[in-house]
Amino acid sequence: MNRIAVYPGSFDPITKGHIDVIERAAVLFERVYVAVVRNPAKSAAFTVAERSEMIRRSIPHLKNVKVESFDGLLTNYVKKKRSCAIIRGLRAVSDFDYEFQMALTNRKMYPKAETIFLMTDARYSYLNSGLVRQIAKLGGDVRELVPPYVAKRLENSRQRRVRLRRKGL
Ligand code: PNS
Repeated sequence: MNRIAVYPGSFDPITKGHIDVIERAAVLFERVYVAVVRNPAKSAAFTVAERSEMIRRSIPHLKNVKVESFDGLLTNYVKKKRSCAIIRGLRAVSDFDYEFQMALTNRKMYPKAETIFLMTDARYSYLNSGLVRQIAKLGGDVRELVPPYVAKRLENSRQRRVRLRRKGL
């Protein structure tokens, strides 16, 4: 049996909660593909290349994890990777409805892959990328919420916005 898993998501940007899930998956599977969606339902703040770079720079210690991106149906990508599992992180009960729907839809489309939910560490159970973006945009400190490279990128984006605003652009 192959022990390959796909961990899909928007990762806009990656947070310490995501990293926690990746680390847990990397222990359970021989190979993990972190798959950045190219056409997210919601419009993204960072490009796919930027999001992928931020993930790569945050997990140099995980040798069996590869970062890729995918277009279209997740189950097609999972099939192409010969993966037996789709990893999703669960934070709170509020995640459940959406995740339940997605897991059953993916199973209908590709029954050979099981969706496996991993609980994030309680320290990150409130965390999501949208909150991180909002805090960073308003000048708050996100260093405890995201890996160092991501915090730097968010700060650079904020400074760029401030400069543009000053120029009246
Ligand atoms: O991090 P997110 O935004 O919760 O991730 C959602 C994602 C990317 C896993 C989901 O939107 C997805 O799988 N998109 C690809 C399109 C697809 O296959 N849709 C049907 C899934 S039920």
